[in-house]
Amino acid sequence: KGDPRLQGISEAIRVVPHFPKPGIMFQDITTLLLDHKAFKDTVDIFVDRYRDMDISVVAGVEARGFMFGPAIALAIGAKFVPLRKPRKLPGKVISEAYELEYGTDCLEMHVGAVKPGERAIVIDDLVATGGTLSAAIRLLERSEAEVVECACVIGLREVKGQLRIAVNYRSLSMKML
Ligand code: PRP
Repeated sequence: KGDPRLQGISEAIRVVPHFPKPGIMFQDITTLLLDHKAFKDTVDIFVDRYRDMDISVVAGVEARGFMFGPAIALAIGAKFVPLRKPRKLPGKVISEAYELEYGTDCLEMHVGAVKPGERAIVIDDLVATGGTLSAAIRLLERSEAEVVECACVIGLREVKGQLRIAVNYRSLSMKML
C-alpha cells in the first residue's frame, strides 16, 4: 500500500466479464505478463519483501503460480517447488484435496522436495476462497517446512479469519468482484 508501482500493476491486469462462465469477472494476468514494467515491478515487490527473510523454498501453485514463482526464487536465492494438479508429477507425492464450487480438486508435491525446518513462501496469482492456498500450506507443513507467508498478485476479497490460512497472506492488488 502506498507503493507507486501498484497502480501500474493493477491497470495491467485485464478483467474479462463472464469468463469462463456467466457472472464470473475473470482476472487475466496474461496482460500483466505482456507489460515488461508491470511484470518486473510485480516480481520486484515480492523480491524486496522476501530477500532478507531467510526463505529457501518458493512453492508455486499450478498453473499461474508458475508464472511468478521461479523469477522470485532465482532472485532471492531459493529453490522453486511446483505444487501440481493430480497425476502430473512422476515421483512419490503427497496430496491435499480442497473444495471447489462444485466438487473437489487436489494439489500434489514431490516427497523430498522440501526438507524439515526449511522456510517457505507460497506464490499464486490470485486468492478467492483461499481453498487452494490452504491445501498448499498443508502440503508444506506435512513436510515440516515452515510457511512464512503466502503471496498473491490479486486478492478478491478479505480472506483472513474466514479460512484456514494459518499464516500471513498478502496480495498486491485487492480487486473487488
Ligand atoms: C485459480 C487461481 C488460484 C485459485 C484460487 O486457479 O489461479 O490457484 O483459482 O481460488 P481459491 O482461492 O478459491 O482456491 P484455477 O483453480 O482456476 O486453476 P488453473 O490456474 O490451473 O487454471
